[in-house]
Amino acid sequence: MEIPENCVVVIFGASGDLTKRKLVPALYALYLQNALPKKFAVLGVSRSLISDKDFQKRIVDDIRTYSSKKPINREKLKEFSKNFFYQSLDATNEDEYEILKKRLSELSKRAKSKENYLYYLSTSPTLFPMIAENLGKKGLQTENNRTGWKRIIVEKPFGRDLKSAQALNSRLQSYFQEDQIYRIDHYLGKETVQNIMAFRFANGIIEPLWNRNFISRVEVTAAESIGVEERGGYYDHYGVLRDMVQNHLLQVVGTIAMEPPAFFTATAVRNETVKVFQSLKPIKTSEVRKYVVRGQYNASKIRGKEVSGYREEKDVDPKSKTPTFVALKIFIDNFRWGDVPFYIRSGKRLPTRVTEVVIYFKKTPHHLFTGNGHPNIGCNQLIIRIQPDEGTLLKFGMKTPGAGFKIEDVSMDFHYSELYHAYIPEAYERLILDCMFGDATLYARIDAVEACWKFVDPILDAWQNRSNIKIYGYPAGTWGPKESLALFDYPDEDWRYPCKNLATEGEYCEL
Ligand code: BG6
Repeated sequence: MEIPENCVVVIFGASGDLTKRKLVPALYALYLQNALPKKFAVLGVSRSLISDKDFQKRIVDDIRTYSSKKPINREKLKEFSKNFFYQSLDATNEDEYEILKKRLSELSKRAKSKENYLYYLSTSPTLFPMIAENLGKKGLQTENNRTGWKRIIVEKPFGRDLKSAQALNSRLQSYFQEDQIYRIDHYLGKETVQNIMAFRFANGIIEPLWNRNFISRVEVTAAESIGVEERGGYYDHYGVLRDMVQNHLLQVVGTIAMEPPAFFTATAVRNETVKVFQSLKPIKTSEVRKYVVRGQYNASKIRGKEVSGYREEKDVDPKSKTPTFVALKIFIDNFRWGDVPFYIRSGKRLPTRVTEVVIYFKKTPHHLFTGNGHPNIGCNQLIIRIQPDEGTLLKFGMKTPGAGFKIEDVSMDFHYSELYHAYIPEAYERLILDCMFGDATLYARIDAVEACWKFVDPILDAWQNRSNIKIYGYPAGTWGPKESLALFDYPDEDWRYPCKNLATEGEYCEL
């Protein structure tokens, strides 16, 4: 297996949630697979004062709590944690970056890394531009013949709107070149999102059907059963449209809707997805009521347990109008997708955690068996389950045995879990490794980020400035406000419900 060159990884925001829940476990998983460089060092950076030793102890605890790689191999874990170091730093103070520079040079010698540095910005987004600038002012971004590569991963959210995203980008680009900047969207690192491309472009039978001639509508759902947890302060400032749709879900739409790239390279793939984002039919401020429904969860009982409403959550404004649910009907104005509605929905405190895409194929042109089965017979569905129970399912009609011609829906399904060699890597494993290799295929390019903001901005603007646009309440544990049904064109259309309403019924979630 090819492994990346030795390097030093610098995590800004080392005491944050993402670091302990995702980044450190991802590095550990890569370490166990012998996928990391032969020699490497990870420098955790944040404000608090702690020693290298204490930081290493913390890493061990984090792995024990958050790694899915169980049972833990004590020896391996100890060995792994020895590669971690810590530097306390006020990220806003330029002078302190001298200390950082010195520390990096020591660690680089230790890891024989020739000054290959990967900076991971996992702090509050307000610090992103300042950190990039301070690194730049100390020359810590310079790549020349003498020094190694320097790459910077910028966590989401990349801005709050188009203007702020452009401002952030121009500050990053004052010091870093575009090919040094990796804008992370962890959905692109999900194995099952990448598999959409394989499914479409590695199978001769799929692509001919993948267009407006055969597909009547597409549905993308990202449901979460959790509420905002400890992130009320951040979330209340962003809301579901910025948190999930502008990035993750539009990227999924991009993968579903893109044209086949000529080559499988970062530039070719990203050239195709950006065209999808640029073809999104704008929803004008005046059309928001027609095409977008927003909601906010109310207090409820889930399986007998009281659950607070969004406005009662910690660090949330008690009069907040921030949506925790959104459903949209969007169109892609191009030859492949003209007039095919894409229904997108995402929310917190829904009945279960599930992310999936449903492709609805057109019905047969003539209904031979009407009257002998249910009315939707002939509407084939392809369900691509992104998580959990990852897999793909095709629904089609079959004659039930016996007299007459009664048709019923049956399924052909594939579950990743049935593959004997199935190990589905976490998105962050794939993405960190790709960055070490200098492969940006699964990272968002600035033109894509901008096009997605350009699409989302008028909706945010309408919500902010048009007082007649309602925010509907929905009981925690249900599928969001029933008003989202009004987005459909026909009375027999509805969302797919992979499980029932938790507030009232038991949970199940199957493909
Ligand atoms: C993050 C959002 O980007 O994605 C969170 O900020 C959300 O609010 C999370 O919970 C969902 O990711 P996943 O991988 O669990 O679907």
